[in-house]
Amino acid sequence: MKEQLEAIRKSAVAELQNASVLQDLDSIRVKFLGKKGELTAILKQMGKLSAEERPVIGQLANEIRADLEGKISAKVDSIKEKLLEEKLKNEKIDVTLPSGRVPLGHKHPLSIVLDEVKDIFFGMGFSVASGPEIEWDYYNFEALNIPKNHPARDTQDTFYITENMLLRTQTSPCQIRVMEKQAPPIRVIAPGRVYRSDAVDATHSPIFHQIEGLVVDKGITMADLKGCLEDFAKSLYGEDTKIRLRPHHFPFTEPSCEIDVSCFNCGGKGCPMCKGEGWIEILGGGMVHPKVLKNCGVDPEVYSGFAFGIGLERLVMFRFNIDDMRLLYENDVRFLNQF
Ligand code: DAH
Repeated sequence: MKEQLEAIRKSAVAELQNASVLQDLDSIRVKFLGKKGELTAILKQMGKLSAEERPVIGQLANEIRADLEGKISAKVDSIKEKLLEEKLKNEKIDVTLPSGRVPLGHKHPLSIVLDEVKDIFFGMGFSVASGPEIEWDYYNFEALNIPKNHPARDTQDTFYITENMLLRTQTSPCQIRVMEKQAPPIRVIAPGRVYRSDAVDATHSPIFHQIEGLVVDKGITMADLKGCLEDFAKSLYGEDTKIRLRPHHFPFTEPSCEIDVSCFNCGGKGCPMCKGEGWIEILGGGMVHPKVLKNCGVDPEVYSGFAFGIGLERLVMFRFNIDDMRLLYENDVRFLNQF
């Protein structure tokens, strides 16, 4: 019986040595140490043994069981360790490797030009003001010297939310909001979205952008307006750019003008871009109307100011030679990728 036990130990140890996966070890345990295993089978025959032999064999059997159990669990540990090592090796991340590039978007052409315009005015000491897109009739019209029934309202029809509240048709209401809050000297631009009841075509959109400008201080004259906007035009289109002021009418400025820049495509000779004119209109402006100053509690006897309004879409279209405004709103990446 002793020999049988030692033979079991031997063959179990041999099988253990060949085992390479955890399942093998399970079957070895069942085969040798399980309820129906080889060792158990031997122990069942202990009854046949003499009283002297029984404790000796019993002890040997227990010793072999403990020995095999220890060897099996050691083997389990070593296989598990190997598996873990392999896993760590396979999942190793080299954090010093360059990453796969994340595709980055870029600025929309409207933002590119707006940022340039802002930079130019920042350089002249302007700061940015803003106002709500849903505006009171008072700020959008009334305070800007456009009373109810004024014909200027017809050209700026918009979506009315109530009798007195509407989607702003221009950024000019920002002038009022700034002057109500801040005493002169004032030097601000107010870029933003405006709304009009216009049908969509190549040069019209019911939603577009303006950049308002306002300067109020003692002794401001039309010469300041001209100098400021000439500097602006030269910064945007180059040193050789000239500007031209044409008389115009806006209810909130007196006198008022429209300002053209010499065509940046042909330099003023006349080409398809300027329709043979040599000049391109880029903005409207003028001296802030004394009534508007008064509406905001600014004394027109002490202060004067100039204001201007730039259409951002026009600047962008001329800048990038875009012939259809709709392209700016369709968000077609094939178009936008070009900028
Ligand atoms: N708000 C005018 C418009 O939408 C543009 C404008 C003209 C703004 C003259 C001004 C200005 O501040 O002085 O047509």
